[in-house]
Amino acid sequence: MPLSAVEKQPDALPEHRVELSVVIPTFKERGNVAELIARLDRTLAGVDWEAVFVDDNSPDGTADAVKAIAGRDPRIRCLRRVGRRGLAGACIEGMLSSSAAYLAVMDADLQHDERILPEMLAKLRTGEVDLVAATRYVEGGSAKSFSEGRSKISRVATKLTQRALGTSLSDPMSGFFMMRRDAFDAMAGRLSPVGFKILLDIATASEGLRIAEQPYVFGERHEGESKFNVQIGLEFLGLLLAKLSNGLVEPRFIFFAVVGALGIAVNLAVLNVAMLVWPVSFTLAKSVATFFAMTSNFLLNNSLTYRDRRLRGWGMLTGFVGFCVIGAIGAVTDVGLASQLYAEREVWWVAGFAGALMGVLWNYAMSSMFIWRTR
Ligand code: GDD
Ligand code: MN
Repeated sequence: MPLSAVEKQPDALPEHRVELSVVIPTFKERGNVAELIARLDRTLAGVDWEAVFVDDNSPDGTADAVKAIAGRDPRIRCLRRVGRRGLAGACIEGMLSSSAAYLAVMDADLQHDERILPEMLAKLRTGEVDLVAATRYVEGGSAKSFSEGRSKISRVATKLTQRALGTSLSDPMSGFFMMRRDAFDAMAGRLSPVGFKILLDIATASEGLRIAEQPYVFGERHEGESKFNVQIGLEFLGLLLAKLSNGLVEPRFIFFAVVGALGIAVNLAVLNVAMLVWPVSFTLAKSVATFFAMTSNFLLNNSLTYRDRRLRGWGMLTGFVGFCVIGAIGAVTDVGLASQLYAEREVWWVAGFAGALMGVLWNYAMSSMFIWRTR
């Protein structure tokens, strides 16, 4: 780093052997590794940089491909995570492993144009900003390579996010940015490892973060395929909700709510079938339906909502019993509140909705605390 340029700045950074760590989360990106490194090498000539690949034990051997190159090139590192998955978490761990002055995060599939890295770095070096976000949605940037459907989702999500969080980022969903490491280290404990939206989380994690933007053209994926799916979309909604509620509900609440809604569908479907089998006893049919719904709710929550804390073996059995007890108390709460409200004002759906909401919040809070113990 040219020392003179730094010395002039008010909050100059101490000297670092590596000035820039480029953190690259990977899952099944074997075919992109060598090309990305070659491009970084070209575009970052003259900068003391390193690349930290954070690979979630990809079955295609991405980590091996990185380590083969790392064996010859000391600028390349590979952090292989086992038994864990998740883009945001991978980025956070890669960033935590750095001792450079600046951190960049970018995708491995070459959709993020590495040629803007030097400009982003120049902005940080002035000492006037803490974070530079690469954006597709201002003059000079674009995302033509998104399919029409995905493009719509992306734009709606962007609008929603800007409204909900009052962020001025023009592309809050972007996973391409560069920032000061000291700023990141200060906020690391407040970040969520869930989901895809690492930049959004970082930009809203600390007040007074000075943010600049850098337009770029979002390119075509080089090799392999996208890992974006419904689950990741839900995770994003969960993150929004968590931010909106000021951390009162965790990002995973959205999964609990969706599983609960599915449970109602299971309950009704099984009731329908059970009525055909035992046409005489509604109570018996309804009991079977409720049992089915409880079981499917428990299993879905165990493998989706709380997948990072999944119960196994005996723990599953005791967990299930506890889940049913909580559910029973939740049902009593639900009916109790709804009846009381209905007695005050006879609007059935308001009373019913309030009761159900109360029930789901109770179930969620208690399950989180006593069954999967996330708090
Ligand atoms: N370690 C790790 N673990 N890496 C992951 C995981 C994971 O579970 N899931 C995805 N990645 C890596 C991919 O290997 C890739 O390098 C990068 O994260 C982005 O994943 P893609 O699957 O290519 O995402 P995308 O192109 O559909 O989504 C893009 O647009 C989003 C905004 O709409 C990305 O740029 C996202 O970062 C961005 O948020
Ligand atoms: Mn991609």
